[in-house]
Amino acid sequence: MKKRLGIGFIGSGFITKFHIRSFLAVRDADILGVWSPNRSHANEAAALARDIGVGDAQGYESLEALVNAPGIEALWMCGPNFARVENIERLSAAIAKNPGKIRAIACEKPLGRNVHEAKLMVKFAEEHKLLHGYLEDQLFEPAVVKGREIIWRRGAALTGRPYLARAAEEHSGPHMPWFWQGDQQGGGVLNDMMCHSVEVARYLLTEPGKPRTSITPVKVSATIASLKWSRPEYVEVLKRTMGKEVDYSRRPSEDFARATIYYKDEAGNPLISEVTTSWSYVGAGLRLSTELLGPEYSMSINTLDTGLKLFFSRNVKGSSGEDLVEKQNAEQGLMPVVPNEAAEYGYEGENRYFAQCFLKGEQPEINFYDGLAVSELLMAAYKSAEEEKTIELISGAFDDFIPAVARGVWNPRG
Ligand SMILES: NC(=O)c1ccc[n+]([C@@H]2O[C@H](COP(=O)([O-])OP(=O)(O)OC[C@H]3O[C@@H](n4cnc5c(N)ncnc54)[C@H](O)[C@@H]3O)[C@@H](O)[C@H]2O)c1
Repeated sequence: MKKRLGIGFIGSGFITKFHIRSFLAVRDADILGVWSPNRSHANEAAALARDIGVGDAQGYESLEALVNAPGIEALWMCGPNFARVENIERLSAAIAKNPGKIRAIACEKPLGRNVHEAKLMVKFAEEHKLLHGYLEDQLFEPAVVKGREIIWRRGAALTGRPYLARAAEEHSGPHMPWFWQGDQQGGGVLNDMMCHSVEVARYLLTEPGKPRTSITPVKVSATIASLKWSRPEYVEVLKRTMGKEVDYSRRPSEDFARATIYYKDEAGNPLISEVTTSWSYVGAGLRLSTELLGPEYSMSINTLDTGLKLFFSRNVKGSSGEDLVEKQNAEQGLMPVVPNEAAEYGYEGENRYFAQCFLKGEQPEINFYDGLAVSELLMAAYKSAEEEKTIELISGAFDDFIPAVARGVWNPRG
């Protein structure tokens, strides 16, 4: 077994920086390179890695140079959703010219903007015989990991399996214009954030040690809505803050989504996951809430129920920032603080896990097939919302489905 894994990052934005900070808790990997179309941003992210001591990273001038860079054998794909396919097309050519150099790839959520793209990602990994990991950080939240382990070992073992999982992710809206644009991102908040909630709920309902296929999704019922951001005053706020191409009077995306996913277990017992996501929640900041319920037990997590709270009187009038919590909305009053967000949201555990799998040459348990399965559930949810009916989950049924939001033809008042 090799002792250390050399990693290159594709993309140098918000999530790359989160990942880089989390590598402080990964002992056997080094970040050696970053490529992004904007070289100075790539250099900045590489400098962050060097400054905090998680690798002797450099910014590279091209994706091909990153692939060929000395020591890099695994890539973390952290570019925008609209660049996934373009990235793998260029990667395919570069990897084919230097076979065996890149051994593994990890990709941020969502794996693709739709099922078609997610399948291209799977094909790419298979064709090049790469180990592949799907970067779903919330499965590695310490509270989720610990809660799941104890619930299954104690409550479920003695009184029966859990039957209901609830997961919600809410904040006041994403940080970059492309997230708000249905065609570029793949949809609205359903595609952006329900991917997390769907997967964490499924994971909690799955018996530890059993495969994903031990619970089968049967049907989905979902709703989407534009509750806040297509109101005229907020259409103007979006144009002002995100640019005039983000025009929710003409091309809105959903800022609220909910879905109920019906599963059955191996004995045919019904299981339910209820997931809710929104970009229209104004609280202290990002709120992840998770619940798991069974016959004689329950667990609940709320990431804003922090141990650390700070109070600032009305006389503390500093500049606004995100130093207390991700997607922070205020700097005064009683504010929750998440002391180590990279740990709490799961990035540390996630990157430790994928780095170790790749070093050992093992295929991670959470991989591109899971990213594809999530994409199928999300597309079924969009279809359900559009047709206002429950959708049966039939394999292959969503291969060509593109949500109306992504096609730019969704009318929230229709
Ligand atoms: N796990 C999570 O909770 C989480 C949170 C945020 C974002 N994400 C995911 O991470 C990915 C990146 O999101 P972000 O918030 O960092 O976005 P961002 O806009 O902050 O950063 C995107 C980066 O990609 C670069 N880029 C632009 N065009 C590119 C191209 N053609 N190829 C490669 N890179 C390109 C940009 O220069 C920028 O550095 C998205 O897929 C997003 O869904 C996940």
